[in-house]
Amino acid sequence: MSNTETYTEWDDHTEQYQAYFDDPSEKVSSTTVFPKILQILGNIEGKTVLDFGCSMGRFSRIMHDMGAIVTGYDLSPKAVDIAKSLDSKRNIEYFSRQEDLKENYYEIVICFMVLLCNPLPQAFQLVNDIYTYTNPGGIVCFVNTNVATLGHGFQNFSSQEIPQEQKEGSPYQTRIPTIKGDIVVTDYFYTSEHLKQMFKNNKFQLQGEEIIAEQFILHILKKN
Ligand SMILES: C[S@@+](CC[C@H](N)C(=O)[O-])C[C@H]1O[C@@H](n2cnc3c(N)ncnc32)[C@H](O)[C@@H]1O
Repeated sequence: MSNTETYTEWDDHTEQYQAYFDDPSEKVSSTTVFPKILQILGNIEGKTVLDFGCSMGRFSRIMHDMGAIVTGYDLSPKAVDIAKSLDSKRNIEYFSRQEDLKENYYEIVICFMVLLCNPLPQAFQLVNDIYTYTNPGGIVCFVNTNVATLGHGFQNFSSQEIPQEQKEGSPYQTRIPTIKGDIVVTDYFYTSEHLKQMFKNNKFQLQGEEIIAEQFILHILKKN
């Protein structure tokens, strides 16, 4: 469990990220991708759910309101503070210290656009850590950028250019326009094959893979 000390660029962009969601224009991640995950998961009432990389808790709140017992974790303390301020008496458990998460516990883990924020060693560690936290029999949903679409222009976020070296873990810049200015962050290049190899190394069983709204790739995994 070694990511606690990792700096996240996202900590510098909390104000813009909040503005991103205040902007009334539709976010395909909320309108299309997350509902697809919920459809696959079915009834989550009473289930223990870990929203790993929850940021300000947009999905944590939805899953809580559907009856799940939700824990949100993000290594950005600022994002976690905002999530807590938006909680509105739900009493969702939020952490910014990975040590607070429980091993072999969560029946569902959501890791939505988080793995790709991590360079290779941290990305491997993240998959390994999530495996540790998942209850045997539990389901894990990873969403990442479908790197086959890098360089295409999309409304909600877009990658300026394809990395010159299309190697596992190559960095590239992603731009997210918001009403309070653009967020520019570094993401890392992982193809579907790279991701599947990482999942396999951690003994996850692949249950499904789906490209959603062109830009996103979803992997559904099971821990036996
Ligand atoms: C693109 S945002 C997505 C946030 C949220 N899942 C959502 O969809 O709104 C990425 C988030 O992942 C967090 N993050 C990146 N790497 C992480 C890691 N290794 N452990 C925990 N959080 C991480 C960042 O701090 C940031 O809040």
